[in-house]
Amino acid sequence: MSIQTSVNAVENGVPVPKPQYDLNSIFTDSVINASGPKTHPRLRQLMASLIRHIHDFARENDLTVEEWMKGVEMINWAGQMSNDQRNEGQLLCDVIGLESLVDDITSKLLIGSNYEATKSAILGPFFRNDTPPTENDASIIKTMPSDGEVVYMHGIVRDAATGEPIEGVIIDIWQCSTNGLYEQQDPAQAAFNLRGHLTTDESGYYGLYCLRPVPYPVPDDGPAGRLLQLLDRHPYRPAHIHIMAGKPRYTSLTTQIFDKNSKYLTDDSVFAVKEDLVVDFRNLEGNPKATLELEYNIKISEMKP
Ligand code: BEZ
Ligand code: FE
Repeated sequence: MSIQTSVNAVENGVPVPKPQYDLNSIFTDSVINASGPKTHPRLRQLMASLIRHIHDFARENDLTVEEWMKGVEMINWAGQMSNDQRNEGQLLCDVIGLESLVDDITSKLLIGSNYEATKSAILGPFFRNDTPPTENDASIIKTMPSDGEVVYMHGIVRDAATGEPIEGVIIDIWQCSTNGLYEQQDPAQAAFNLRGHLTTDESGYYGLYCLRPVPYPVPDDGPAGRLLQLLDRHPYRPAHIHIMAGKPRYTSLTTQIFDKNSKYLTDDSVFAVKEDLVVDFRNLEGNPKATLELEYNIKISEMKP
C-alpha cells in the first residue's frame, strides 16, 4: 500500500502535514479487482462500491486499528444477540437510518412516480407472517390492557391509478400494547394479540378494533441501544400502527401510520415518519365497542409490466 504525505490541514494558522493513504486508489482498485469472473454482476457492482466507500471512509477519518476493532466488536455483539425473536443487525441499520433509506429507494423503484399511492415505511423487526385470518369488524385485542383506548379503524383500499375499490386485498395490521411490547416480546400477552390479517370485501372495505398506539423505545439493551447512548440519542419511536397490504398483480405496500398527537414525531429513533403517514384519531360516539375512530384509506399500485 502506498502512503504519502501532503499538507491539507491548518492548526493555529500553520499548515499541518497530514498523511495520505493510497491517494490514487491503487490499493483499493486491487481489492476490487480481486473478484473473479464468476461473480454475479450485481454483487460485483455493489461490492466494488462498498469497498470504495469504506476505504474512503477509513482514509478520510484516519481510522485507527483500535477504532476499527470497536466497530468489529459491535457487529459481533449484534450477531451474538440476534435470534428469531430479535434482529439486532437490522436494528443497528434502523438507528442509522439505513432501513428507511433503502425502503424509500425500493418503493420508488417499484411504484415509480405514482404519487397517489400510499407512502411506504419500514417493516421493522416485529412482523409475523403466520397471523391467522381476522373477520372484518372483529377486534384484534386479545389481551386488554387496563389503560388501553379502543379504536375503530377502517377504510377502503383503492387502485392508486383508477381510484377503483379493490376486493380481496390482504391487510396485515400489527401494533404493540400500551406497555410498549409486541406480543412475541411479552409472555403476558395472548399469542397474536394486536395482530390482524384481514381481506377487503367487494367494496374494498376493511375494518377492525385495535388500540390507540403509544410511543415506545426500540430494544436498547444491545449494541443498537449502546450506539444510541454514545450518540446522545433516545431510543423512542412515536405512536404508530404497522400496515401491510397486498394482492397478486399489485405492488405490496408496507407502511406505518403515526398519531398526530404523539411525542417523537420529529425525532423518531429509526427515522420512519413521513408527513403523509400522520393520522388523526377522532372521538367516536354511539359505538359501545370503541371511543375513538380512525378512517384510513389506502391506495396501492398495479405492478409495472
Ligand atoms: C417497529 O416499529 O416495530 C420497529 C422499527 C424499527 C426498529 C425497531 C422497532
Ligand atoms: Fe412498531
